[in-house]
Amino acid sequence: MDKLLITGGRVLSGDVRISGAKNAALPLLVAPLLVDAEVIIGNVPRLQDVSTILKVLGHMGVSVTIRDNGSVSIDASTMTNAEAPYELVRTMRASILVLGPLLARHGEAVVSLPGGCAIGSRPVDQHLKGLEAMGAEIRVENGYVHAKVNGRLKGARLVFDMVTVGGTENILMAATLAEGTTIIENAAREPEIINLAEMLQAMGAQIEGAGTDTIVVHGVQALHGCRHDVIPDRIETGSYLCAGAVTGGRVKTLAADPHQLDVVLLKLQEAGAHINTGPDWIELDMRGQRPKAVSFRTAPHPGFPTDMQAQFMAVNALATGTGTISETIFENRFMHVPELNRMGADIHVDGHTAFVTGVNSLQGAPVMATDLRASMSLVIAALAANGDTLIDRLYHVDRGYERLEEKLTGLGANVRRVSSRDYP
Ligand code: EPZ
Repeated sequence: MDKLLITGGRVLSGDVRISGAKNAALPLLVAPLLVDAEVIIGNVPRLQDVSTILKVLGHMGVSVTIRDNGSVSIDASTMTNAEAPYELVRTMRASILVLGPLLARHGEAVVSLPGGCAIGSRPVDQHLKGLEAMGAEIRVENGYVHAKVNGRLKGARLVFDMVTVGGTENILMAATLAEGTTIIENAAREPEIINLAEMLQAMGAQIEGAGTDTIVVHGVQALHGCRHDVIPDRIETGSYLCAGAVTGGRVKTLAADPHQLDVVLLKLQEAGAHINTGPDWIELDMRGQRPKAVSFRTAPHPGFPTDMQAQFMAVNALATGTGTISETIFENRFMHVPELNRMGADIHVDGHTAFVTGVNSLQGAPVMATDLRASMSLVIAALAANGDTLIDRLYHVDRGYERLEEKLTGLGANVRRVSSRDYP
């Protein structure tokens, strides 16, 4: 198993090219299950989670071709079964996204129920309730969701109990082929939803209101193939900007989209960063200054993204002053706190709120990655800490950050992937 060895203390400076968004790529890669034709998806990041979803498709007999230019061609006309087994789903919850398209196109699906995960229990009741309201018969047996519909799904008016990104995506895909109109209320407004809706529209779907909290889908008889690109990864972008901020450096993210990051850029400015943006780039310059602590609550888009909470906590850990961070989306997303404290941070958690008092310096230490974004917060802290930090369980980072060491090295960081044989 790999570990990451970071020798901290270097001021990051330079340009970094942002990859396609993991959380946009996953729904885009399952949407081709809605058609018997080739769909080509561009700007797909090479990540563990992407490999997992492609394995799920491969298991169903779908033809998948990965091209050198970062695009993936998917043709579901070769599909042989509509089953997503536990062995694959358990490694990635987003596999549940196959449920809506399978049911809409093939009238049945057998998908393993994803379990809880490190950041919380994460049920999928809203996905199932939505599909039931559209006429699906759903049975949960031996850890599997067995879903069936006689004929086509029927359009319905749905109101989600909470804002759910995956739930919105699942129902949106299912509704494209339903009979009649589906209205999704309290829909998620994340940029990833817009990316998916635009791809579905390019496939012939009739969708209004994506990016607002009410999405209206007029079902059509059939969709067709298309070519569509994954949007830039806003969380990867924000993570590199935080790395620049904590080291007092200057980082320019290329192939990025500033419009997706409004609240994150505002918080970085509040922390003392000078931010400049162009159509597809964002530059952060700390001019050698230490960041100032900021406070925020995570919230569904356009609020502060939960996927940036841990990285900002690492910035606060070395800032001047005290920042208060409340996590409102997931019940257990502070697992990076004990690890940051082992590096000398001063963070106290009370329920869903963390109080972070910035310290003058952090010290390198052996630390354990617990989930994807928690791991990135340890990387960010390690870049600014004195001495060596050895981050264990690196596979968490590999789920969501493409070519991490290469990109950080390009910014001047001292980062090396090492094997646990050499660094037990
Ligand atoms: C997506 O997860 C992202 N994953 C997550 O990214 C992200 O943290 C999350 O949205 C919130 O922004 C992908 O896009 C692949 P939700 P998702 O359904 O769709 C509860 C990362 O680090 N809920 O919006 O699974 C749920 O438990 C990650 O890249 C129900 O109770 O999240 C959570 O508390 C991890 N019942 C809240 O809603 C449901 O049926 C929001 O979850 C569905 C959700």
